[in-house]
Amino acid sequence: MAGGIPGREARRRALVFPLPFQGHIDPMMHLAGALHARGLAVTVLHTRFNALRPARHPEFRFVEVPDGVPADVAAAGRIIDVILAMNAAMEASPAGVRAALASAMLAGGEEEQEAERRPRGAAACLFIDGNLLAVQRVAAALGLPTLVLRTGSAACLRCFLAYPMLHEKGFLPPQESNLYTPVPELPPLRVKDLFFSPVSNHEKVREVLARITETVRNSSGVVINTSEALEAAEMEQLRGELAGDGLPLLLAAGPLHKLSSRSAGSSLLDQDRSCIAWLDTRPPGSVLYASFGSLAAMDPGEFLEVAWGLADSGHPFLWVVRPKLVRGCDSVQLPDGFEDAVKGRGMVIRWAPQQEVLAHRAVGGFWTHGGWNSTLEGVGEGVPMICRPDAVDQMMNARYVQDVWGVGFELEGELERGRIRDAVRRLMEGEEGAEMRERAKVLRRKVADCLESSGSSQIAMDKLVSYILSL
Ligand code: UDX
Repeated sequence: MAGGIPGREARRRALVFPLPFQGHIDPMMHLAGALHARGLAVTVLHTRFNALRPARHPEFRFVEVPDGVPADVAAAGRIIDVILAMNAAMEASPAGVRAALASAMLAGGEEEQEAERRPRGAAACLFIDGNLLAVQRVAAALGLPTLVLRTGSAACLRCFLAYPMLHEKGFLPPQESNLYTPVPELPPLRVKDLFFSPVSNHEKVREVLARITETVRNSSGVVINTSEALEAAEMEQLRGELAGDGLPLLLAAGPLHKLSSRSAGSSLLDQDRSCIAWLDTRPPGSVLYASFGSLAAMDPGEFLEVAWGLADSGHPFLWVVRPKLVRGCDSVQLPDGFEDAVKGRGMVIRWAPQQEVLAHRAVGGFWTHGGWNSTLEGVGEGVPMICRPDAVDQMMNARYVQDVWGVGFELEGELERGRIRDAVRRLMEGEEGAEMRERAKVLRRKVADCLESSGSSQIAMDKLVSYILSL
């Protein structure tokens, strides 16, 4: 990791404003950590909804922004509704955002402003999540350049940008009859893999994606949490597709969690570290880690099948059962007899220190919903995966895991205990699982190379910092 940059540059400040959901907070805070390690001061803007805990990040300044998310939308916590409600509230009354941004632009910056005679204060730029168009508009009015952090893959951004075309060509909205039709413009994706949610109103999805596209196109640069080792072709295609917009900067600077480690600090739920001591007692490569991220949910019947599928696999497992994993249940009960059936072999916890778990030598496989952070974290540790995508970009992530990198496979169809047992055995035992494990190790090495001092992700970070200092 590069050291701090001394002198005048060390005083420049970057503002960061993540979308307040775990899968979006983590990469933004990792980016903040990486910028800080390179000598920039950082101010984090955050909402009351899913508020961050400033005491855990003494190195950053924090400014709260009024989010305007109505109580019922906040309580339901559905990401698409929160995004739309937040943007609508901020657009209807931008004064609160404007005041927070203006204060963040000056926070800690008066001295620098004085020293550098910078009319704009010490803040060089604002990194925003791609879902925060309303914030970008306010920043533009204040003369503050925005850069977008895309927390999904490059393939995912290509897909979002292509959404109008996918509708014009009839690929979307998806129909039962065309789910397995390949999309020639976005190989290797099929219609089924394109962003959509089985439970969200398709018009809302379109609106959210149109806003992301506008935010990206209006920005002064885009950083994608990916690696050239994973998506060199997709990055190249994106550069071509965005060239007409005159985007000054498009960088693959990830996996960001490998450039700065702040997962515990930005975790919205407390991580249960007792699992590490338990993993210490297990043989190398023996444990399946099962976790479905912070948002994916399943029906009560599916939950039972997962529990008994894990039990029937015969393999040791560590399973994250977070609150609300089962639709309609705030606190989830394990089935009767389950704990006795897996005694000594299975551990169930509410929330894990996931990156540490995946890096543990005892972990030999990862059953994931395929959120992009989880995918990067699995790839980054060379752990082969079973993907059970739920929504958003997870279908396309599963496609890459299976068909592009060959480091796992998708568990399709009904969630049923016998199929789950077989999938776990397929990953953890036998030749096919061993081949995926081998490919996962090779991929980990390639990703790690990009993180070395002359690797593409480090070079991207160098370019990013120089660019920020030039603003
Ligand atoms: C999602 C998806 O990335 C994406 O489909 C969409 O954009 C909305 O956000 P999420 O479903 O939470 O996020 O998944 P993921 O991207 O994998 O992020 C989860 C994060 O929580 C990871 O960084 C993971 O390390 C962390 N985590 C998960 C824990 O720290 N402990 C756990 O027990 C489980």
